[in-house]
Amino acid sequence: MVSSSVDALAQAAFASSESIFAVDSPSSHPSQTIERLGDKYTISNQSPAVTIVQANADPFHKVQESASAKKDLTSVLATSDVLLPAIPHLFKIASQRSAVVVHVETKERESENHHGNNSKGATKSGVVPSHADLMAVRQTGFAILTSDNTQTAFDLALVAQAAAVQTSTPFVNAANASVTKNDKVVLDHQKVAPALISELDLAQHKERQAAVSEISLSTLYLKPTPAASADAATDAPSTATATAATPEEIYNKVEELLVTLQKHTGRAYRPIEYQGPANPKTVVVSLAIGSTGLENTLQAHHADVGLIKIYLYRPWSERHFLEALPASVERVLVYEQAPASHTAWTPLFLDVSASFHSAEAAWEGTIPKIVSARYRGSGADLSQADLKDSLASDKPQLIINPSYVAPAHHSTASVVSEADVDTPYLQMLTQVFADRLNIENGIKTDSVWGASQQSPEFGYGTLVTKVAARARFAELVSKTVQDSSLKISEQLRKALTQWHLNRSDSKLAKRHGDEAILLLQEAKESLVGSLAEISAQSSQFVKPSHWLIGADAWAYDIANSGVHHVISSNADINLLILDTEPYTARTQNPENRKKDIGLYAMNYGSVFVASVAVYSSYSQVLHALIEADQFQGPSIVLAYLPRPDEENVSPITVLKETKLAVDTGYWPLYRWNPSLDEKGEEPFRLDSERIKLDLQQFLERENHLSLILQQNPDVARTLTHSIESEAKARDAALKKKAKDDFAKLMGGLGGPPVLILFGSDGSNGEGLAKRLVKGAKLRNLSARYVAMDDVSIEDLTLEKHVIFVVSTAGQGEFPVNAREFWKALSATTELGVSDTKFAVFGLGDSHYWPREEDAIFYNRPSKELHAKLVELGATPLVDLGLGNDQDADAYETAWAAWEPQLWESLGCKPLEGVVEEPKKSADDAMKIDSNYLRGTIAEGLLDETTGQLRAEADTKLTKFHGIYQQDDRDLREERKKQGLEKAFSFMVRVRVPGGVATPAQWLAMDSISDVTANGTLKLTTRQAFQFHGVLKRNLKKNIQLINKSLLDTIAACGDVNRNIMCNPNPHQSDLHKQVNDFATDLSAHLLPKTSAYREIWLDQKLVKGEAVVDHEPLYGPTYLPRKFKIVVAVPPNNDVDVFAHDLGYIAITNKDGSLAGFNVTVGGGMGMTHGNKKTYPRLADIIAFCTPEQAIETGEKVMLVQRDFGDRMNRKHARLKYTIDDRGIEWFKAELQSRLPFQLQEPRPFKFLDNADRYGWTQGQDKMWHYCCYIENGRVKDTPAEPHKTGLREIAKIHQGEFRLTPNQHLIIANVKASEKAKIQSMLEQYKLDKLNYTGAMLNSMACVAFPTCSLAMAESERYLPSLVSLLESTIEEVGLRDDAITIRMTGCPNGCARPYVAEIAFVGKAFGAYNVYLGGGHHGERLNKLYKESLTEPEIVAELTPMIRRYAHERLEGEHFGDFVIRAGIIKATLSGKTFHDLS
Ligand SMILES: Cc1cc2nc3c(=O)[nH]c(=O)nc-3n(C[C@H](O)[C@H](O)[C@H](O)COP(=O)(O)O)c2cc1C
Ligand code: SF4
Repeated sequence: MVSSSVDALAQAAFASSESIFAVDSPSSHPSQTIERLGDKYTISNQSPAVTIVQANADPFHKVQESASAKKDLTSVLATSDVLLPAIPHLFKIASQRSAVVVHVETKERESENHHGNNSKGATKSGVVPSHADLMAVRQTGFAILTSDNTQTAFDLALVAQAAAVQTSTPFVNAANASVTKNDKVVLDHQKVAPALISELDLAQHKERQAAVSEISLSTLYLKPTPAASADAATDAPSTATATAATPEEIYNKVEELLVTLQKHTGRAYRPIEYQGPANPKTVVVSLAIGSTGLENTLQAHHADVGLIKIYLYRPWSERHFLEALPASVERVLVYEQAPASHTAWTPLFLDVSASFHSAEAAWEGTIPKIVSARYRGSGADLSQADLKDSLASDKPQLIINPSYVAPAHHSTASVVSEADVDTPYLQMLTQVFADRLNIENGIKTDSVWGASQQSPEFGYGTLVTKVAARARFAELVSKTVQDSSLKISEQLRKALTQWHLNRSDSKLAKRHGDEAILLLQEAKESLVGSLAEISAQSSQFVKPSHWLIGADAWAYDIANSGVHHVISSNADINLLILDTEPYTARTQNPENRKKDIGLYAMNYGSVFVASVAVYSSYSQVLHALIEADQFQGPSIVLAYLPRPDEENVSPITVLKETKLAVDTGYWPLYRWNPSLDEKGEEPFRLDSERIKLDLQQFLERENHLSLILQQNPDVARTLTHSIESEAKARDAALKKKAKDDFAKLMGGLGGPPVLILFGSDGSNGEGLAKRLVKGAKLRNLSARYVAMDDVSIEDLTLEKHVIFVVSTAGQGEFPVNAREFWKALSATTELGVSDTKFAVFGLGDSHYWPREEDAIFYNRPSKELHAKLVELGATPLVDLGLGNDQDADAYETAWAAWEPQLWESLGCKPLEGVVEEPKKSADDAMKIDSNYLRGTIAEGLLDETTGQLRAEADTKLTKFHGIYQQDDRDLREERKKQGLEKAFSFMVRVRVPGGVATPAQWLAMDSISDVTANGTLKLTTRQAFQFHGVLKRNLKKNIQLINKSLLDTIAACGDVNRNIMCNPNPHQSDLHKQVNDFATDLSAHLLPKTSAYREIWLDQKLVKGEAVVDHEPLYGPTYLPRKFKIVVAVPPNNDVDVFAHDLGYIAITNKDGSLAGFNVTVGGGMGMTHGNKKTYPRLADIIAFCTPEQAIETGEKVMLVQRDFGDRMNRKHARLKYTIDDRGIEWFKAELQSRLPFQLQEPRPFKFLDNADRYGWTQGQDKMWHYCCYIENGRVKDTPAEPHKTGLREIAKIHQGEFRLTPNQHLIIANVKASEKAKIQSMLEQYKLDKLNYTGAMLNSMACVAFPTCSLAMAESERYLPSLVSLLESTIEEVGLRDDAITIRMTGCPNGCARPYVAEIAFVGKAFGAYNVYLGGGHHGERLNKLYKESLTEPEIVAELTPMIRRYAHERLEGEHFGDFVIRAGIIKATLSGKTFHDLS
């Protein structure tokens, strides 16, 4: 079965080649066709060697090298767009006489649709197969065959293979891409191929090849010169000659082979074929490719017209062409595909014309009239209507289908395929400039990466013409308004004058232009002279935004590309140059430094230059595009969009590549706007925040140093001297002595000095290393600890005692901070460590990778390290210690046995009477020492030498202020390699009780995210705002701006009560208001009272001389043992997941719908640790009912019981859920009751239906409207396709109600008046916020932040969940579950921020790309789920869940939810309490 031309071409190639190159591109995969063929066909009983090459990896370079080295019969399968960039290689292949046959399917290309008038900026386009590539290579020395259907393509492919080898000439064999439905293709290659090529042919070709030296291209048949023809006449063809085959030889060979083909198949062709009447007056000439429509129409309607079909186009044989042409002919019409109307003469027309003047083949009769007839489109659909007029026309040039409309582009908008790499920028251009946008060269990927016709140089000429045309129009307007003799109304004269004055300003030009157009239309009848001309050209009033788009090639070669033209033109033209080279695959060659284009352009002075990256900063791109448009002169925008050379590149990869490039300064973000200089402002703006900081610090240091040196010449000398001595100190002996002396200095400690090295990704390994240091000090040993990567392996030779604590990361890998060390050590065969004694303690988890064959990964690093040190000759102090998370006390179990042995081996006696680990909570001590949460935060903020808060305690204390220190984990390794500190930044969480914010607050958040953070806003699972990427120097400003908006960050994190959540939908208006007010009051009641927050962040200084006297009436100086979370639910909606929190209130209503009070729930919580069964998620118990008046006091006392009884020694066991499970729920109730002055009542009935949000419009009892938008994973950001952030900003500017954050990370535009609804709706549509046609699964999915900022993340979450859900969606839709809600949640670690353990399906990160899958949670959050399978990868997840979803669709009971079904079906056991969560049997 043949389903495309490439199938047929591949069959033929496979049957008759020795090597095949399959050139894959995003849109075409010939390699897949080849794979399907297997090794069925061979020419010399050997399967061809198949090489797969990527279209963007210079494939013909490889083809040329291989063909020239191996001298074998080579075929290439590709689409025609690869030909153009291959031209230099094609010349070379031809000159080497390699038997290479390039089988190409014509590539579909953009084609403008022509409806007569396309002056309005961007035109609509469609796609048609283009013959342009073929024509472009017609002079490379390749013979060219073209075919009109798939059978012919197949036949000619066999002929091309044979002709190539028998004439030692390379061929291109081209076929149209599409297969006609009725094409029945006979694939008889097994019979035909051996008849066309023999082994002898191959041997003779190889002989000829051996004799080839580089021959001059002039001897090829580019065009038969008289000399070449003479040579051809005298040089008899021979089997082994170094001379290229003559055109005649090639023509004859093809003809001969076609005869052979006919003998074996009955299918007849001639290289140049005439069909039609014997004595026609009119003959049409066409390449075979594209001739079908023509042929059919002629046969049906014009029996008197002849047709010459050219199968063999190169070499062009004038003699044979003239021989084929009947002598009676009076008119020759040359039909050719020519999309561009401005090409002077078309190639085939020139060939045909020249033939009549050939010396070689004189035409005997009168030279006929030759007409160039061009068609648009593929030619297949040329009709009688198209042909009729052209056949009768006398014009020398015709366009025969002027109103041709290309079929609409088949890619769907908002689906960005891998190929459409330029799409984000193009979408932005379209959004920003709308109707004014004019992209002169093609706007699809093909155009940017492909043909020269669409290249920027090509567009440049047209643009200059357009700019000049508008300038002429302006001149006309100017003259007209000055022409006092012209009868023109004052109003119109004014409008035209104003337009003329403001024609470069897009807005004013439009305003005055529109005025003028209106007036011109009113006076339409009486317009004469220049006014009529102005009216006719009224489209020129609009100021177009002219853009050219160039790609990588432009970026490299400034001199030869059109960049230079544009820069020096001074014309108002904008150039967008895309750079797609991924950072990790960057070219190290400095000559290829693309970013220097920017420098080059800036040197010109009057050019706007910007360097942007859409996945780094959307708003910066936006600003750059707008400024470029406004700048009156040339603008260059260098745009980064890495395109890794792999199939199905994930958006995360593109994002990471961009971040690396921007952060490391490889792709700095900046804008150079010379017009600012004129205004006295700085024209250069560096937009890369982090680089700005690094640069600033660097300059400051440099400055500082040079000042010192200038002022103190002595210091300069000392400095030089000290550098010298530093060099000397590198001498190993000196270094050793220095170390020994240092050790002695450390207080004359008696025992041997100990170096403790750790490798740890989390905190376990590092924690043990710290404990060793303390232990050593207690034993009078001097000890220091560092990460393994912070020492070199040579340091081991200088140490007497080295202790390693190394945990296991990834899949049996070393942690990030130990990898370099291990790389060096494992590669070493000799190291002077015979005097070194060592010990290794490993941390791992024997069940992390549960499959049997993965047992090797258990504690692998520690095992490998121990073995390697022994191999190098070091002496173990004790046996390898293996900490295992599966042991009763996790790694502590093995540690307890190992540590005493270690001290003993170091000669230390057991300590008597000394308490090793102070049995006081370290965290409590830290809180007490902090002076009510002050610590040294204020001092740390002033330290400009680092982006972090250095003091560990400060990083914990800032959490109480709503701030988390984080570092960008995408950048960790790269920055480490470059010797830079981690990319530190801060996450700031804003407390929003009940999730309600005013439009003014929304606008403030929006702007704060741009000014001080990473430009996006995160709506959290607990109804808070989060800013990410806040740099230390912006931190204070960030907090101050938040406070200015009347929100704050106090107690948004830390061991205190956090943001109080509340059902956000106010449609039950009265009840809702009461409940929400309660949430707000309770939140205020439980706030910490320390003044540290205001002092540190808001600069509210204490009165001079006054000592700090803070008091925390509720918390005391040690605050709570752990975080404390409160929610308020309003049935029937459990969107807040009331059972997943420490304390919950369920609103109970009276019969009339008013608030009766609350059921109180206690002891819920999600967090746990993988492998540690002592930790588990737990659902809250409903313990009582209280009235609204009692609710605050009840809440306070619940919190205080936890304050007094919560575990303060073990943070993993410190939540209220453990306090309750340890002491019993009855104890808890009694303890609570004993603190209350009133009696709690029995809980009252209620009913929850689900825990999801209500999307779309709802109307409240008070007739106000509320719209809930779907915000994917709560991330409010702009993308070119969905500018949500901009949209919400615009809505906030006019909205008079509130913005309500939902517990599922979505957003309600609440309290919209009926009169405003239509306006809001239209804005929702405009900014794509109205999209709700997702599947129920997508609408009910939720993910935590995880990578890159969360330090606990083990796997992706927010950035990954949507793509995983979309993989399941096809099944969901197929089985009819599109609108069924299934709750799916994902977190990057077991901490559970997105409340995964109550989801029906949950994915919890285990390691990069691996997730534990949990099933069976209750649909409305009433039941925990259970572990189904561990560490599944994406394909495994899909393979597991797909059949399960199908089964659910077929077997579910009426109204049965997925979580209930998997339990009933026996797929998973129900979890009935937190304690049995891990119980799998
Ligand atoms: C992402 C990840 C991957 C892990 N892979 C392994 C592994 O392959 N083999 C193993 O024995 N332990 C593995 N573990 C378990 C850790 O080594 C163990 O939990 C250790 O205590 C972590 O120490 P740290 O906090 O110092 O990094 C892995 C843990 C994580 C978080
Ligand atoms: S669940 Fe884990 S990975 Fe996700 S945000 Fe919370 S702590 Fe980070």
